Amino acid sequence: MKIGIFDSGIGGLSVLHEAMHLLPDQEYIFYADTEHVPYGLKTPEQITGYAKEITQFLIGQGVDAIVVACNTATSVAIRELRRTFDIPILGMEPAVKPAVEGTEGKRIMVIATPVTIREDKLKDLLHRVDENHRVDLLAMPRLVEFAEREEFESSEVYSYIEEQFSGFDKDEYCALVLGCTHFNYFKPAYRKYFGSETLLIDGNRGTVRHLADVLSLNISQDFDNQIRDEHNILCPHNIRYFFSGKKISDEKTLKHLKRLHLRLEEVRNI
Ligand code: DGL
Repeated sequence: MKIGIFDSGIGGLSVLHEAMHLLPDQEYIFYADTEHVPYGLKTPEQITGYAKEITQFLIGQGVDAIVVACNTATSVAIRELRRTFDIPILGMEPAVKPAVEGTEGKRIMVIATPVTIREDKLKDLLHRVDENHRVDLLAMPRLVEFAEREEFESSEVYSYIEEQFSGFDKDEYCALVLGCTHFNYFKPAYRKYFGSETLLIDGNRGTVRHLADVLSLNISQDFDNQIRDEHNILCPHNIRYFFSGKKISDEKTLKHLKRLHLRLEEVRNI
């Protein structure tokens, strides 16, 4: 099967990376809308326009299904995409449900972009699953900016995270939900702040499992094996990368993508 995965930027690479582990034999087209990132600071109309254009592009490339690897685009555009296009389109939403169901008593923090936090989709989700009002929401738009700059461990990153969390008592939290795909790159920083007891929950594995269900694909037995073989990191035989419609083939950008995959591999099980 040929699967299209898109995001505003490199956040969606974390979903592709998980798909490389769980469904290594499929063909992928990864699309980052680097000309328009960040979506989290745009209007719903702008984001919907970009998402429709990208979906059209991916369908033109012959994909069998599309993963909107972006919580922000999902929250404002998924209904319109499904209404307009006639192939399976999977979205992503902050993994609040597994967080609420998998923990007891203590509080849960959801971090996402301002758009995701503001939109009704998340409010409706909380209304359905957060019966005991354990969930707090926090927008962290600068993490998108840091990720796009490939800045994951700088002192600015650590102070930004500390500053944003400073209004909350960290000992009250049992889980941190990463409600933006760009946020996966910063797992060591959250871990350092919250300590080892707090669960870090992202929706990537759940999304890829859902994709497998929709397309009736089997999850690889070796899905937890490390991806470290030089050649397999970019998988040129079954993955093509596009940045805002432009096929990536230059050495510099391929090296950048490779570094990002290595980072994702490093932080995958934190
Ligand atoms: N990666 C995206 C998400 O999951 C959006 C980041 C952005 O462009 O603001 O929400």
